[in-house]
Amino acid sequence: MPELSPARSKTTSSVRSPRRHPEATRRRLRVELGERSYDLNIGAGLLSDPASYAELRGRTLRVVTDVNVAACYLDPVLDALGLTREHACVLPAGELQKTWANAEEVLDWLLAQRIARDGVLIALGGGVIGDLTGFVASIYQRGIAFVQMPTTLLSQVDSSVGGKTGVNHARGKNLIGAFHQPIAVFADTDTLNSLPPRELSAGLAEVIKCAMLGDAGLFARLERDIDALLALDAVALAEAIERCCALKARIVALDERESLAGGPRTLLNLGHTFGHAVETYTKYETWLHGEAVGLGLAMAADLSMRLGWLKADDAERCIRLVERARLPIRPPAGMTPDDFRSLMARDKKVAAGKLRLVLMRSLGEAVTTADFDATALDATLDHFCAAALPVA
Ligand SMILES: NC(=O)c1ccc[n+]([C@@H]2O[C@H](COP(=O)([O-])OP(=O)(O)OC[C@H]3O[C@@H](n4cnc5c(N)ncnc54)[C@H](O)[C@@H]3O)[C@@H](O)[C@H]2O)c1
Ligand SMILES: [Zn+2]
Repeated sequence: MPELSPARSKTTSSVRSPRRHPEATRRRLRVELGERSYDLNIGAGLLSDPASYAELRGRTLRVVTDVNVAACYLDPVLDALGLTREHACVLPAGELQKTWANAEEVLDWLLAQRIARDGVLIALGGGVIGDLTGFVASIYQRGIAFVQMPTTLLSQVDSSVGGKTGVNHARGKNLIGAFHQPIAVFADTDTLNSLPPRELSAGLAEVIKCAMLGDAGLFARLERDIDALLALDAVALAEAIERCCALKARIVALDERESLAGGPRTLLNLGHTFGHAVETYTKYETWLHGEAVGLGLAMAADLSMRLGWLKADDAERCIRLVERARLPIRPPAGMTPDDFRSLMARDKKVAAGKLRLVLMRSLGEAVTTADFDATALDATLDHFCAAALPVA
């Protein structure tokens, strides 16, 4: 069995070397969704360990991945599953590849191999591969099983749990899709060793988001562990991933299809309305999603404080944690309060003409509301835009 040996980037320094405690990192938790329930397996070395895959034994398996992930992890995963390269479909990498055309390519590949309804698709990669593969699984022969093997921090704490799948359309992101739950998730913290540092920080934004919206205990741990997480300490990573997934699993169990307007699942959008405005302003070209969410979290904390809901020192703690995770807390160069206002008004959370935001009642408690003082929002926008990054 080959050791899972991620290719470290050339910029890797000793601080990014993980401490290894494989056993201490193993966690299992369950997403309770009746007959669609499944286990989340978390830990170092899971993907290259054949023992991880007992429940898949005897099934017809096919793997979908992207070129970057294939270079590091495809062969160890295939070995552990008893498969060869013929059983894998390798797509180009990146958000621009989350297309109907690539979904069709995977569908063609499955048909050419005469995969039947009892086949299982494995998504080995970040959120792009997870969303696309899950979507293909949801429509191939009216739906086959799929497994998530997330390899970015963002996909390990967010996109691999909850069953949202889909592809982008020229008119917007994630416009074509389906709810389709995986039958299992395997999140191997070792895969994060090869992740570019910016992608790691972007994933940490979603971790901080979980803590701010629903787990004050996790927030305190993150304040303690943020440097260990940036240094890829496997135990700290497993613990943070487990707590985020547990929170997301609880929320998804309450509102599986996000059908409740302003319901529990919308709380996962904390920081995202501000963040989407930044992503749109920068045309999805320069800021990673998680970077925009990091700034959005800082802005949501500031606004919650101005409304008198969040204590000033707790708002300050949120902003400092975002900054310590190496995420931006200043808007992009040239972005004005009016830019924010007009882009935020387009966000899908505008109901009956009123902007709805996810805000914090206290550290670890969020609420979705349109009932807030608009002058406080103006003050937040003025405050952050006054500190916008200088125009180059
Ligand atoms: N389904 C959901 O609920 C949900 C939730 C949040 C986000 N998403 C989606 O997730 C996508 C973003 O996911 P992402 O941030 O994982 O992006 P991604 O899948 O594009 O991965 C980011 C980059 O890292 C590379 N990569 C992946 N794993 C690596 C590893 N271990 N080592 C080195 N490089 C690696 C990829 O090839 C890619 O270039 C978006 O399309 C977003 O819409 C979905
Ligand atoms: Zn997000």
